[in-house]
Amino acid sequence: MKALILSGGKGTRLRPLTYTGAKQLVPVANKPILWYGIEAIVAAGITEIGIIIGPETGAEVKAKTGAGDQFEAKITYILQDQPLGLAHAVKIAQPFLGDDPFVLYLGDNLIQGELGGLLKVFEQKALAALILLKSVPNPSAFGVAQIDEQGRVLKLIEKPPVPPSDLALVGIYFLSPVIHQAIAAIKPSQRGELEITDALQWLLDQQKPVDSCQLKGWWLDTGKKDDLLEANQLILDSCLSVSNAGIVDAASQISGRVSIGATTQIINCTIRGPVSIGSGCHLENCFIGPYSSIANDVTLVDVDLEHSVVLQAAKMIGIHQRIVDSVIGQRASLKAAPQRPKALRFMIGDDCQIELA
Ligand code: TTP
Repeated sequence: MKALILSGGKGTRLRPLTYTGAKQLVPVANKPILWYGIEAIVAAGITEIGIIIGPETGAEVKAKTGAGDQFEAKITYILQDQPLGLAHAVKIAQPFLGDDPFVLYLGDNLIQGELGGLLKVFEQKALAALILLKSVPNPSAFGVAQIDEQGRVLKLIEKPPVPPSDLALVGIYFLSPVIHQAIAAIKPSQRGELEITDALQWLLDQQKPVDSCQLKGWWLDTGKKDDLLEANQLILDSCLSVSNAGIVDAASQISGRVSIGATTQIINCTIRGPVSIGSGCHLENCFIGPYSSIANDVTLVDVDLEHSVVLQAAKMIGIHQRIVDSVIGQRASLKAAPQRPKALRFMIGDDCQIELA
């Protein structure tokens, strides 16, 4: 059994962050989204992992994630010249995948739950494909499945205007090598992509066994800002443990689950967890409220912030208006004037320079 993680694509919905960085490397609770997927795959006992990368962000994904030693896995990088669809990514990975079954995992998806149980179902039933479904309020925005009482899949449709059910396809698929035959048989869709839903539908048309399981826990496709903030909240709630490798002065008050990285200085701050703060940061005269993640090398002076994600080396000074529901890009700089508006809600891209005058 192998794994193929898709970490190419354009990431248009998370611009401007994705102009300069891979969306799969955006941190959730200070860990790249992509790494949660790798860890889930390794936890299911799969250690041969291929990662699809694109020309713009591939080098960054590769440099940060490495050959897999830190995950006790072996990672092979596969370059996809253009994001021509999920099935296209599988097609170009065929030399890596060979005749092995594999789990296809979208690198910007986060799920609650383990893959081991699903893998067992896939193997025991000798399925051509096992797909994961989740009931959603807006199925028209997703690939949608129609299933029978046993969970057997009857039909799959990509973003149907009139959905046959509310069951969306979660970005994790267990596939047998017959999928390569299916992909060879399908044509690009109207949007010019080779769709994995079309390949799965081909399997159904050929009477191959395709089953589904419904995901009970949460599922987040972190491709958009609000999903990213929600993922941050869920991960901080479920996975954060208390640790302090920084330097906290006596005037600071820290409550709840807070983790502070090495050499980070906290001076006269109130921090209410769950909050994750990276290493090498400088925080002075700040209020940091629940569900905030602050990456490495961030400077915050005279700032009130909660339910926000601040990326590496961002700098904010003198913003007492509470910053909420915000994503601040790498190296972004914010400086406030004495007169302040009532509320601020940001999505600021990497390298932006903002002064509130
Ligand atoms: P999507 O979110 O469907 O596509 P995208 O990354 O281009 O994003 P956007 O809609 O914001 O422009 O992709 C799901 C995952 O699969 C994501 O991690 C990117 C990856 N992907 C590839 O690696 N190759 C591809 O050809 C496509 C379409 C996506």
